[in-house]
This record gives sequence, structure tokens and C-alpha cells, in this order.
Amino acid sequence: MRLSITLQRFNPEQDATPHDEEVRLDVRRGSTVLDLLIRIKNELDGSLALRYSCRSAICGSCAMNINGGEKLACRTSVRKELERHGRLRIAPLHHLPVIKDLVVDMRPFWSKVLDVQPWLAASREPQQRYGPTAQLTILPKDSQFHNVDACIMCGACVAACTVHEVSKGFAGPAALAKADRFLSDPRESHSAIRARLSALQGEHGMWDCTRCNYCVEVCPKDVKPMEAIIRLRRASLDRGLASTGGARHIAGFVSIIEQQGRLNEAIMPLKVVGFDVSRFLRILPLGVRMFFKGKVPNPLAHRIPGLEQVRAIFRRARRPTAL
Ligand code: SF4
Ligand code: SF4
Ligand code: FES
Repeated sequence: MRLSITLQRFNPEQDATPHDEEVRLDVRRGSTVLDLLIRIKNELDGSLALRYSCRSAICGSCAMNINGGEKLACRTSVRKELERHGRLRIAPLHHLPVIKDLVVDMRPFWSKVLDVQPWLAASREPQQRYGPTAQLTILPKDSQFHNVDACIMCGACVAACTVHEVSKGFAGPAALAKADRFLSDPRESHSAIRARLSALQGEHGMWDCTRCNYCVEVCPKDVKPMEAIIRLRRASLDRGLASTGGARHIAGFVSIIEQQGRLNEAIMPLKVVGFDVSRFLRILPLGVRMFFKGKVPNPLAHRIPGLEQVRAIFRRARRPTAL
């Protein structure tokens, strides 16, 4: 089958901006997108830059944007892409600087992973108890890594993340999932876990995630970074780390629903800013504008009928589950 493929090209030595280029090629049955790109490079244009190594969805180096979605080129079938989209357009990963053609600079990705200190801050307890040569062992039954350690650092989740679109400083799904991996490690001390969580409370940390779920959709290894972020948030709240706007948003949301049976948007901003006067003054002009546009609901809105049933759900949810 002869196919027309659209490639995003960019050579920093010649081009001011990236541009699309059409390539025509006979495609063999069962080809992956990576097979196709290697043939283009070998048979048509040796200057095409792309990154790959294992060809088996292991190394993570061939992640790119294929028909608008982040995928590993070595495990993406050309036939399935054509069936689904009727075309083939290939571009580099979003949100990372392009070095040339389909090759991106992964340094911003790595520096965010480094920022979460992806190594074990081991407890000293075994050495104190059993001597300096005591080993820190871990058994499968003691760990619950939720598949987070399957990450191959491909960067697809970062390229798909909606927060990166507007906030380049966001720690991002891969780095936060990595932090969660250490949270689930029984060898890490309580104080180290607390320090890890505290470091991720501020701006660009765990509370910046909008829970859009894109990182879960694109991850080729089923790491589910968003669920890891939710575990980080739960662990923070369990340890009383609840001073950030994100944490207060969750706590405020829950308390309003429990009191009134429905969300009251007029009270919600006050729950988020708390007693912080400067924050209150920052949101005040927005509140005034909303009031004059008729967008502020009645703060004294009545509770919904059947509120007792809502509260029964809360009581049930708080009851410890039997394992
Ligand atoms: S769920 Fe959160 S981390 Fe994942 S892509 Fe969306 S905003 Fe980014
Ligand atoms: S979490 Fe998934 S998508 Fe993100 S870097 Fe790891 S393997 Fe790739
Ligand atoms: S070439 Fe290694 S994951 Fe695709």
C-alpha cells in the first residue's frame, strides 16, 4: 500500500519554525510507525532525526506525537492509526524543546524527576537495631507500588499534561508518580515521607494537577500517574498537611456537601482562602464582578431535602473497611 505521511520537520540550522513535510512510501503489512520512520531515514532522507533503541516498548526513547496523541512509535501499528484517523501525522512530543525533527530535549523532564529526589531516604532503624551491616530488605508482600515502578521515563505523560500547557514549572505526572513510589516503600522512615510530601505542597507541586486524566490515557506502561498524585494528596491530608489552597479546596468541598447536601459556590472561595487576608483581597475583585453579573449564588441557600441520606453516605465512607 502506498501511503502519504506527514512529518513535522525542524532543523535549527536552517528553519525559523517547524514545518510539515509530506513523504510517500510503500508500506508493508504489519508495520509499526517506528518501522516506517526507520525506512524513511534509510531509503528517502538520511537527515531525518529520531530517537529509538529497543524497538520493544522497553526503553521509552521513541515516544512521539502520532495523530495528535502521545505514543511509543515502536508499538503503534500503522494500520490501526489509518483505520482510526484515516491519515498519519507524526510530530515530536509536546512541552519539551525540539532539538531536531522528532528528537526533543529531555533535560527539563529529567530535572523534574531529580527534583523529587528519586532515591530511598532509608530509615536507620535496622542498622541501629542489628548493627551497621544490617541490610534493608523488602518483600513483595510488604510493598504496594501500584505499578508505578513500571515507568520507562518516556515523557509521554508530560507531553499530554494539560497543566504543562500553561505552567512549565509544574512537577508533572512522571515525577510525582516517582515520588509516590517512595511513599509506598516500607523502608522509608516516617520523617522522610513527611519531608517528601511537604516539599510537594507548594506551587507546581501535587495540588496543581487538574485531574484531566490524560497522563493515564497515554501512559504505555499503565502507571496511572494521576492516581499516584491522588495517593500523594491523601497521604498529605492524613498527615495534616492541609494548608495549601488545593488541600483546603478538598476539605471545604467535603464540609459544604456534608452540611448542605450540595455545593454552595458563594462559600467555597472563603473555605479555600481561609483566614489569609492577602488571598482574600486577591479574590475580592473577582467576587464583586461576579456579584454584579448575577453569578454569585445565595450564600444562605437552603439545605437539600433528604440531607440525612447524604450524611449517612459520609458516615459509611468514613467507617474503616475490613480487609
Ligand atoms: S491528571 Fe494531572 S498530571 Fe495527569 S495529565 Fe492531567 S493535569 Fe497532568
Ligand atoms: S508515567 Fe508512563 S507516560 Fe509517564 S514517563 Fe512513565 S511510562 Fe512514560
Ligand atoms: S524504541 Fe524503545 S520504547 Fe520504542
